[in-house]
Amino acid sequence: MKTDIWMKQNMPSMENKTVAISGATGGIGQELCRHLASLGASLLLLDRNSERSNAWIEKLKAEFPALNAKHLRLDLADFDTVKAVTEELLKSTPDYLIFNAGAYHVPRYTTSVGHDNVFQINFLAPYYMARTLLPAMKEKSGRIVAVGSIAHNYSHIDLNDIEFLTRKQSSKIYGNAKRFLMFSLFGLDESKTVAVAHPGITLTNITAHYPKVIYALIKHPMKVIFMSPRRASLSILAAMVQDAKKNEWFGPSLFDVWGLPKKKLLRTCSDEEAKQICQMAAEMIADLAQK
Ligand SMILES: NC(=O)c1ccc[n+]([C@@H]2O[C@H](COP(=O)([O-])OP(=O)(O)OC[C@H]3O[C@@H](n4cnc5c(N)ncnc54)[C@H](OP(=O)(O)O)[C@@H]3O)[C@@H](O)[C@H]2O)c1
Repeated sequence: MKTDIWMKQNMPSMENKTVAISGATGGIGQELCRHLASLGASLLLLDRNSERSNAWIEKLKAEFPALNAKHLRLDLADFDTVKAVTEELLKSTPDYLIFNAGAYHVPRYTTSVGHDNVFQINFLAPYYMARTLLPAMKEKSGRIVAVGSIAHNYSHIDLNDIEFLTRKQSSKIYGNAKRFLMFSLFGLDESKTVAVAHPGITLTNITAHYPKVIYALIKHPMKVIFMSPRRASLSILAAMVQDAKKNEWFGPSLFDVWGLPKKKLLRTCSDEEAKQICQMAAEMIADLAQK
């Protein structure tokens, strides 16, 4: 089935709905913005680079002249902006909040609140925002959608190295953070208000982390082999409008990599591990509240 037909058959009008989306200037984020603009949604772009985000709004407006779109600066590695944006969203709560931003192979450092930046960007900051905004989102019958990854399955939590500070492999460090994100959100036990989706594999900046020569060789085959970001983003849209139970996520139907969105039950984390993740997440948030 073509992407446009899936959109017509599965997505309601988003007129009078506001969608706040992080990582809106990224590969998948841009396609999400296009899909949502085509449905009439008002967009709030939560990006760390204001110039790029505002330029993207201008491009979108050229494509969708009736679009109502604004930008708020959010750097998930900078907790001051995370708190400020959360305050703004509490004052004016969107109908949908999509945690789409993510970082994979980036230089690591300790953030001002004492966490590993990859852990904070992919897990701690969106978790803090989701937890703080949950009552307001619930009140509005809104939905929070977090973008997870099949990479969550490359890691299991390590109580002696929660943020994987001693690990060197990006896939494991990123996978650990996504695992925390996904299972801490399932643990909020709000299956109607919180949903998890993943795009499978699609060529964007996040997948372009190979050495230059290797990337030049694999770029075009990858484009052919994997779904386009436009199609891969459909699973995130499905998670906005379809209901799921705890531990169910939305992703491509075939081997989690190709095909249209399908809801699947995750059996990749034991109840015991999920409980530990939720406990650690709650402790980290309590600690952040003191800062
Ligand atoms: N592509 C895939 O195959 C794949 C597979 C599984 C999951 N995902 C997930 O899909 C989501 C979208 O990724 P993508 O593929 O579209 O990659 P992308 O093109 O690299 O986009 C990532 C987005 O995240 C933003 N971001 C990174 N660090 C940030 C920070 N500190 N604060 C705020 N925003 C930040 C980036 O902003 P800048 O432009 O400013 O860097 C960019 O807009 C991510 O959560 C990713 O983990 C992707």
